[in-house]
This record gives sequence, C-alpha cells and structure tokens, in this order.
Amino acid sequence: MTEERHEGCTVWLTGMSGAGKTTISCLLERWLCEHGARVERLDGGEIRKQLSKGLGFSREDRDENIRRIGYVAGLLSRNGVIAIVAAISPYQAVREELRLAIGAFVEIHVDCPLSVLIARDAKGLYRKALSGEIAHFTGISDPYEPPLTPELVIDSSTETPEESTTRVWNKLRDLGLIRFDCSPLELG
Ligand code: ADX
Repeated sequence: MTEERHEGCTVWLTGMSGAGKTTISCLLERWLCEHGARVERLDGGEIRKQLSKGLGFSREDRDENIRRIGYVAGLLSRNGVIAIVAAISPYQAVREELRLAIGAFVEIHVDCPLSVLIARDAKGLYRKALSGEIAHFTGISDPYEPPLTPELVIDSSTETPEESTTRVWNKLRDLGLIRFDCSPLELG
C-alpha cells in the first residue's frame, strides 16, 4: 500500500460574503485533485439549497447551518478526506466548538475591507443590504466576528486567488497535513 500523501482534515474558510471564499475553495480543490488527493468541498450557499434548506439568517439558523456543515466535514475528515468549507460562519463560538470536535481544523480568515466588498458587489447583495431590501446582512446589519486565532489570514483585496491559494497550500504543508512537494504555482 502506498503511503498517504495527505491527512484527513477540515480547511475552514470564514469571511464575509464576496470576500473570495468560494473562489479559493474551488482553486484549492482543483489543485489538490490534480495531485490525487481525496477532497470534498462544502459551500454554505450550496448547502443551503440541500442539507440546510429552509434555514434563514438569524443567529440560531446560521449556527445550525454551520453545525450541520461541521458535522459532515468532521465525518469526511476522520475518513481521510480533505474537507474544504466555504461559509461566512460569522460567530466565533460555533467555529471554536467545531475546532474542538474535529481536531484537524485549519481556520482561514478570508478578509477584505468592507469598502472593497461594497465596490465589488458581484451578486448585488450589498446594495440591497444597504438599502434595507435585505435585512440581517453580514457586515452591514448583522455582525461578523473575525477569528481570534486563525491558522491563516488572507486579504483578498491585495492578493490574487492563486497567491491566496498558494498560501493556504503552504500552510497545510507546514502543518504536515499535505506532503506534496510543491504547489502547482511553484511548478509553473
Ligand atoms: S452563514 O452565515 O450561515 O455561514 P452561508 O455562508 O451559509 O452563511 O451563506 C451565505 C450566502 O447567503 C451569501 O454568500 C449570500 O449569497 C447569501 N445571503 C442571503 N442573505 C444573506 C444575509 N442576510 N447575510 C449573509 N449572506 C446572505
């Protein structure tokens, strides 16, 4: 049997809507798959159409959504899969709860100044939130609690998605969770 090139773990991307969590998670998934890793991506927006269908954006519902995603990520992690989660997950307490439950938990804050998010506004949601059309919108009319001790902070306003994903890759390698020699970016 060949030696596993990676451990099972959960890579948890937290940050505000539009910060780049989904973009980075897709790129990381692709790079890891190209190296033959076993990967599953769990995206808050997608999970809300399936496993978390019907949940809203109150604190209670968001925490429930995050616990469900965390539960699945934990199952995958303990079976040797790299679970990549992209979810706003605005509350510190439930993220800490999952860190304790999962163990191999790599918390990455995908940060971006609010002014840049408002200027980008790819989905037009900030405009709606600012006009009051959407209530309880993270960063506008609802809180976002940044991680206190993340493994990595990314500022997506100053890095390209490839640079950010390379930093995630290097962090996983430094933590001994992946053992591939170099990142696809280093390979050229
Ligand atoms: S979480 O807070 O429960 O972690 P999640 O990541 O699953 O959120 O879903 C966030 C997505 O839902 C956003 O990217 C956005 O498209 C959409 N959304 C709709 N309403 C809101 C809201 N009030 N606050 C934040 N995101 C919202």
